[in-house]
Amino acid sequence: MKIAIDGPSASGKSTIAKLLSQRLDLPYLETGLIYRMFGYVAFSEKIPLEKVLDLFEEDFLVIFEVGKTDVYWKGKRLLEELKGEDVGRYASILGEIPALRQRVIKFLREIVGDSQVVAEGRDVGTHIFPEAPFKFFITASPEERARRRYLELRSKGLEVSYEEVLKAIEERDLRDTNRPLYPFKPAEDAHIIDTTNITVEQALEKVLSILKEHRD
Ligand code: DC
Repeated sequence: MKIAIDGPSASGKSTIAKLLSQRLDLPYLETGLIYRMFGYVAFSEKIPLEKVLDLFEEDFLVIFEVGKTDVYWKGKRLLEELKGEDVGRYASILGEIPALRQRVIKFLREIVGDSQVVAEGRDVGTHIFPEAPFKFFITASPEERARRRYLELRSKGLEVSYEEVLKAIEERDLRDTNRPLYPFKPAEDAHIIDTTNITVEQALEKVLSILKEHRD
């Protein structure tokens, strides 16, 4: 069984997808990490955008298992390096390069093959696994997503204002939704879960009940 979980940043999709993977004992594939890995490498090594595709020839590894996805660049696991807002923004810029996106989609399809997976991202249900029998689109209002991201960043001791965070979220949404090829949008057959006024647990229960309803 393949389950596709898409949604904008700070919608709660990663938390929900990870918990779902644990509840169902299926591997969890966080597709954003590969864009973040290339974004981080390209940014820190000052690789121009037109050369980013060459990074595919380098030594990297994506390991996905129940509850987690790990990425390794030249044998080193990248974790904290990939979490920042700047890396996320750069990942979104790379996501606009059609040749890179096509290569990433092909790569992800190859590593998953016929396996079961809970895969999470922006285009899992639309382009990576359009054949997935279960698709969810996790969303929330930009203000609520900004509020969550703001609290998260403040709890890590970062000095940011709510307005700055909201602006960054709106910019990222705009870029992800308006790229000419592969614009970010829900699959036609996705179940939309709006988490603006519900908790993660309530959203997870909704997903589980939809799965149960359709599998019985
Ligand atoms: O889910 P995330 O915030 O880690 O993703 C970071 C960026 O990577 C996101 O703004 C757009 C890009 N991305 C993408 O284009 N397609 C995906 N399947 C996952 C991420």
